[in-house]
Amino acid sequence: MKLKIAIDGPAGTGKSTVAKKIAEILEIDYLDTGAMYRAVAKFFLDNNIDPCEIDNNTVEKIFKEINFDFKNNSLYMNGKILSDEIRSPEVGKIVSKVASLEAIRKKLTLIQRELAKGKSIVVEGRDIGTVVLPDAEVKIFLTASAEERARRRLKELIEKGINVSFKEVFDEIVQRDRIDSTRKVAPLRAAKDAVIIDTDGLTVEEVVEKILEIVNKKIKKVEKQL
Ligand code: CDP
Repeated sequence: MKLKIAIDGPAGTGKSTVAKKIAEILEIDYLDTGAMYRAVAKFFLDNNIDPCEIDNNTVEKIFKEINFDFKNNSLYMNGKILSDEIRSPEVGKIVSKVASLEAIRKKLTLIQRELAKGKSIVVEGRDIGTVVLPDAEVKIFLTASAEERARRRLKELIEKGINVSFKEVFDEIVQRDRIDSTRKVAPLRAAKDAVIIDTDGLTVEEVVEKILEIVNKKIKKVEKQL
C-alpha cells in the first residue's frame, strides 16, 4: 500500500521537524514544499524580480530557468542542494508574496504531485491536504498560538547563527499568516477531513506520537478492507 501523509499548518508549528521524524520512522520519503516556494523567492531576489510586478510570461520564462530535482530525500534547484540560504529573513519577507501568485502555484503544484507520485511519502506545506494531494490517506493540520510559534522560530534562527529579534520574527509570522490564509489561490486552510492538532504545550515527540497513532489506525482500516 502506498501511504501519502499531508502535514499542513502555519509557520512555526513544527511541521518540518515532525514531518521529517515521521518519514524517518516509517522509512518513507519526505518533501518540504515550503522549501520550493522559498527557492523560487530566492531566485526572485537574486535576479531583482519584483513579485508585485510579474505577469504570466515572466513566470513562464522563470520556470524555463528553474529545474527541481529530488534525490535521496533532498531537494535540488538547478543542480544545487537547497541550503539554509533559503531560510534568510530576506527570503522570509517576500516568500508569501511570491507564493500568492497563481502561475507560480500552478507550476509548483504540478511538480510536487509528480515528485509524490507512486510512492509513500510525507509532504508538508500549506495546501497539501486541500490542493496538492487531496486524496492523501492521512491529513494533519498543525496549529499553535502566534507567540509560541515565534518563540520556536526565534530559537531555531539563533541556533543557525541568524541574528533577529523576537519582534521581527513575530511580525514576519503574523504577516505571512495573513497573506497565506487570505490569498485567492490555495489559501492556508485545514482540509475538511484533516485532523487538527494544537501543538501549544506539546513536545515534538508527543506530536509525532499522535500522528503515528492516526497513521496506524488508517493502515489497520485499509488492511481490513483488503
Ligand atoms: O518553515 P516555515 O513554516 O517558515 O515556512 P515554509 O514551509 O518554509 O513556507 C514558506 C512560505 O511558502 C509560506 O509562508 C507560504 O507563503 C509558502 N508556501 C505555500 O504557499 N504553500 C506551500 N505548500 C508551502 C509553502
